[in-house]
Amino acid sequence: MEFIDKALDDYCVAHTQKEPDTLKQLSKETWQKILIPRMLSGHFQGRLLSLISKILAPKSILEIGTYTGYSTLCLAEGLAKDGKIHTIDINEELVDIQQKYFQKSEYREQIISHIGVARDIIPAIKSNFDLIFIDADKSNYSLYLDLVLPKLNPKAVVLSDNVLWSGKVIDKKADDDDTIALRAYNKKLKEHPDFETILLPIRDGLSISRFKD
Ligand SMILES: C[S@@+](CC[C@H](N)C(=O)[O-])C[C@H]1O[C@@H](n2cnc3c(N)ncnc32)[C@H](O)[C@@H]1O
Repeated sequence: MEFIDKALDDYCVAHTQKEPDTLKQLSKETWQKILIPRMLSGHFQGRLLSLISKILAPKSILEIGTYTGYSTLCLAEGLAKDGKIHTIDINEELVDIQQKYFQKSEYREQIISHIGVARDIIPAIKSNFDLIFIDADKSNYSLYLDLVLPKLNPKAVVLSDNVLWSGKVIDKKADDDDTIALRAYNKKLKEHPDFETILLPIRDGLSISRFKD
């Protein structure tokens, strides 16, 4: 679902930093070879992730939902010199394409890939985080927030993708599990005393939440 007029959307993209060539190739290969390619963040949201990461210059990032690695590479662009990004995905069939592009990139030594179920992997990672990107199974967003909470550094930022879920969050007739879970998640973030949150109508909805000092 487009939340803004297509012409205006095109104008926003045209006035946004160019998509790096390697990411363009990764996007093309994902669309040619991988199932459900619309899951990939893409040019506009990718540049936003990159910019947020560059503003924060995090030492440690956690990404839940690697897919083909597009958003991993965008987030890695802002890492501090000795920083690391941990990224988790349950689907081992994606490893070849992820590694192809991770190994080509200048961030290859800074990316730590975990294959498996996020709810099991998150508690086992021995690190705290400055930036989190939640972009995996929607029904577990709330659980992921609970699991990352003890690992957040002061002023950490949590980015949550797809929080408008094609507009279903306000559709009174929508009562599928993911929609119900996302409504509850958005409410939880808004009411959480330790976060300041803004929900932006970018792409499928992206919220930015800042953890307390
Ligand atoms: C929307 S895609 C991620 C897109 C990617 N962040 C990007 O922007 O290019 C969601 C990913 O979450 C993964 N996933 C789904 N359930 C998961 C789980 N329980 N644990 C870990 N990964 C999971 C899927 O395999 C899929 O690759």
